[in-house]
Amino acid sequence: MKRYLVQTFGCQMNVHDSRRIEEVLEAAGWQATDESTLADLVLFNTCSVREKAEHKLRSAVGWLRPLKDERPGLVIAIAGCVAQQEGEQLLRDIPYVDLVLGPDNIPELPALVEAIRDGAPPIARTVFDLETPQFLHAHPRSDARRESSAFVTVMKGCDERCSFCIVPTTRGPERYRSADDIVSEVRALAQGGVHEVTLLGQTVNSWYEPTPGESAAPLELREKRRTASHFAGLLRRIAAEVPEVLRLRYTSPHPRHITPALIAAHAELAILPAHVHLPVQSGSDRVLKRMLRRYTAAEYLARARALQSARAGLTLSTDIIVGFPGETEEDFLETLALVRDVGFVAAFGFKYSPRPQTAALALGDDVPEDTKDDRLARLFALVEVQQRAHLASLVGTRSTVLVEGPSRDGGGRFAGRSERHEIVHVEPPAGVDPTGTLVTVEILAAFKHSLLGRMDGGVPIPDAPRTPKPRVHLGVLGGEGSES
Ligand code: 5AD
Repeated sequence: MKRYLVQTFGCQMNVHDSRRIEEVLEAAGWQATDESTLADLVLFNTCSVREKAEHKLRSAVGWLRPLKDERPGLVIAIAGCVAQQEGEQLLRDIPYVDLVLGPDNIPELPALVEAIRDGAPPIARTVFDLETPQFLHAHPRSDARRESSAFVTVMKGCDERCSFCIVPTTRGPERYRSADDIVSEVRALAQGGVHEVTLLGQTVNSWYEPTPGESAAPLELREKRRTASHFAGLLRRIAAEVPEVLRLRYTSPHPRHITPALIAAHAELAILPAHVHLPVQSGSDRVLKRMLRRYTAAEYLARARALQSARAGLTLSTDIIVGFPGETEEDFLETLALVRDVGFVAAFGFKYSPRPQTAALALGDDVPEDTKDDRLARLFALVEVQQRAHLASLVGTRSTVLVEGPSRDGGGRFAGRSERHEIVHVEPPAGVDPTGTLVTVEILAAFKHSLLGRMDGGVPIPDAPRTPKPRVHLGVLGGEGSES
């Protein structure tokens, strides 16, 4: 029996890619293991969005060296963004790595691993599928690993040119998937017991119906089409055609593509959550301009307000970079002011980290490390105050919770997500397992990053998955600030 171990770093796109990696391996006769000592293949699916993420990978790979010395037949593979960015250089840098695999080359993985097991020299395969982009389908899992929530990719790559960001290099130009293909995957997942679908893309809301071969067209031509985003139409279609989907999320939208049609969809479609994660990056127009974000703080605020008025109680969370080159104390104070004005209930904060092949490299990295630390701490302190106030304001209200599984803290509670994506611990009536169902609760208490609710009546969903292996992603809070 051939065994593999996949370790994932980074964003939801990588989590999604890792699942596809597992599927292609399992289709080729591989079996998962959690033990690196038992594995015949160890694959790291990597992130390079910040330098720290890249360091994490290098130290994790270092741990494998003794294993490889002991068992030269062990195949060590690096996939994902670091693989795409560095290509063959990685094979030179880390001589015991056997395979470097770009995000668009996942289907080739089993054959490449077999070639290496048969004695081929180390391989770097990092080619974008520009002409006929492939989108690997998520397959609903059966029985023990059945899940009520799944990611579906609607586009890949990125045509934005944010000056800090390495993603256009690691994920290539934007390529879109047809609505028919997306809807059929969502339908298959829903039939397999999935109740919550998260549409994924680097700028997910720039989606439009693709025409064959266009991803190879010049950027200016593609730009015309993507500014006429049809994303709201896609949301409406899924809502109408796959009623089994109870929650339809999307991440990450770009503020530029928050169109009137998308705002209207939030007012009309009950399956959209009352929460949007909308990265702002900075509240200073001067910094936004240098970041090439293509909106002003006032424009961002106007769109945030429009979303908030479209749906009662809609909350917003965001990503913020502190210490971008040239960011002054005044610029940073403008960011804090915007955080207050929008009323973000959560934020992921990051210290600026210079990345290869990005425009901002030319600006240097002039904000001292301790200033970045200080700004990050002040940002988190403010967001935490807003988050606590928000959670406290919910005590005594009712909420609709999609229950994901038993709470980690035991005690017979279950955990799920509210319509605004807060984590809610649910106390069900004795003997009731609400996993995979949408239940209404009364919020009894607010904790630092979560809520406690008492279930007052379930809406049992026919054929809902019952007591699967708990997969409560408490790590992905969407609540806490982080610098990872
Ligand atoms: N330095 C710091 N943070 C970055 N991000 C992207 N690139 C960088 C960088 N060079 C952050 C942005 C983005 C999130 C995924 O990572 O806030 O929204």
